[in-house]
Amino acid sequence: MIRVRTIVGLATAAALAAGTWASAQGAAPAGDPAKGKAVFAICAGCHVLSGPSFTAPALAGVVGRKAGTAPGFEYTQALIGSGLVWNAETLDRFLADPSKAVPGTAMFSNVPDAQDRADVIAYLKTVPAQAVP
Ligand code: HEC
Repeated sequence: MIRVRTIVGLATAAALAAGTWASAQGAAPAGDPAKGKAVFAICAGCHVLSGPSFTAPALAGVVGRKAGTAPGFEYTQALIGSGLVWNAETLDRFLADPSKAVPGTAMFSNVPDAQDRADVIAYLKTVPAQAVP
C-alpha cells in the first residue's frame, strides 16, 4: 500500500496513464457518441475539431495523442510536461478536474457528470485526426 502511494506521488502522470486512479474509482460508464456530440457543445465554446485555433487546441484525433502536441497551439508547460497520453482514462480524469489532473493547465472547464464525460470521450473517439493547416 505504502509503496503504491509513493509511486503515485512520484509519478502522477505515469499512474494516470496506467489508469491507476481510474481503476481505484471503479469502471467508467459506457459512452454514447451521439449524446457526447451534444456534450461537445460545451467544449466548442473554446475548442475546434480541426483547423487553426488560438483559444484551445484542436481536438480531432485527440484520443491516442500525446498531451500538448496539436500543431499550432501554444500550450502551457504544465500540459506539455504532463507526460500524459490521451485515452479514456486520462481524459476522464482530466475532464473531471483539469487542474487536479494537470496542475497549472489553462483548461479550467470541467465536466462533473461521469456519464457526460464517458459520452464526450466516446464522441471524440469517432473524430479521426485530420491535418491541421
Ligand atoms: C473555456 C475554454 C475551454 C473549454 C470550454 C474547454 N476547454 Fe479543453 N482546453 C482549453 C485550453 C485553453 C486548453 C489548453 C490547456 C493548456 O495548454 O494547459 C485545453 C486543453 C484540452 C485538452 C488537451 C488537448 C491536447 O492536445 O493535449 C483536452 C483533451 C480538452 N481540452 C478537452 C476538452 C473537452 C472534451 C471539453 C468539453 C467538455 C473542453 N476541453 C472544454 C480550454 C477549454
